[in-house]
Amino acid sequence: MPATAALLLGYLLGSIPFGVLLTRLGGAGDLRQIGSGNIGATNVLRTGRKGLAAATLLLDMAKGAAAVLLAEALFPGTAMLGGLGAFLGHCFPVWLKFRGGKGVATLMGVVLALHWPSGLVYAAVWLGMLGLVRISSLAGMTAAVSAPVSAAFFARFELVFLLLGLALITVWNHRANIDRLLSGTEPRVGAKGG
Ligand code: G3P
Repeated sequence: MPATAALLLGYLLGSIPFGVLLTRLGGAGDLRQIGSGNIGATNVLRTGRKGLAAATLLLDMAKGAAAVLLAEALFPGTAMLGGLGAFLGHCFPVWLKFRGGKGVATLMGVVLALHWPSGLVYAAVWLGMLGLVRISSLAGMTAAVSAPVSAAFFARFELVFLLLGLALITVWNHRANIDRLLSGTEPRVGAKGG
């Protein structure tokens, strides 16, 4: 019962589509009709509203971290289930007919709250790759895959297993980006039309 409650709590938090809400409230239109159609901060940036993009990034991270911390506080021992719920809620939100985001920012918040050393590695890999290649999808996928790898050095087996599963889902969510990366048409952050 506490496990189900933690999963549900995480799902409800994670399913709040901050990118869609902020873009609409900011008068920048329907995010799903813009750019890649994704509901994450990178696509919000394509509206030209940097503040809204930064807020989306922070709130998508915060909901992942909050789900972990709240689940653990309310139902001790369920931190990982809270994080799993938040990730699934972000990627497959009932409110958007289960067509949600790709999971990069929410997973960063989840990893930071579950195991901060792996979270710091995640953030460093993400920022480093973004600075190096300026391709958000590539930076996000690399960061997601770094999580189970760094957790394998410092954390317990269950966490490595969970992060491996979430990294695989994140990569799967980027399959359209992978096609564009392979054909050389994936836009760079900040580039015209990117
Ligand atoms: O976090 C999402 C990012 O990795 C890719 O976003 O809009 O370029 O598909 P987008």
